[in-house]
Amino acid sequence: MTIKPLIILPDPILRQISAPVERVDAELLRLADDMLETMYDAPGIGLAAIQIGVARRLLVVDLAREGEDNNPQVFINPEIVRSSDTPSVYEEGCLSIPEYYAEVERPAVVTVKHIGRDGKEHEVEADGLLATCLQHEIDHLNGVLFIDHISRLKREMVIKKFTKAAKAKPV
Ligand code: NI
Repeated sequence: MTIKPLIILPDPILRQISAPVERVDAELLRLADDMLETMYDAPGIGLAAIQIGVARRLLVVDLAREGEDNNPQVFINPEIVRSSDTPSVYEEGCLSIPEYYAEVERPAVVTVKHIGRDGKEHEVEADGLLATCLQHEIDHLNGVLFIDHISRLKREMVIKKFTKAAKAKPV
């Protein structure tokens, strides 16, 4: 497993729309393992393939708390098939927007259809943090970032800050 460099705001790669995965093979599972390794190293609780520059509809999640055993979950071609009307608000962050957090309102419960690492189709009904996390990561597959769900003023401020930081970085 290899830790990959993370794509950081305002890199336009983050705005790409990822293509469906066509085959669950050894190469794809290796990519999922690299994503998990990268996510654990960061550390984070979710990562979409586009965040390491791979525009494929694949994401990994692990909500295990500190001291608990790892619980890696792989979602291939995930799709939200149902959302609750009840909203829920969580403070979100993103490995591509380091050290920035903001409250985001999303449906509290979602049903997500996906292919698992076994290559079979699954459906999970997620609530709580998992619901938020899956919606955040599925957004990434569509080129959407959590800052797109906050006020325009706040979003412009954070983009400006990261654009400045990217320019200051030596190439
Ligand atoms: Ni993110």
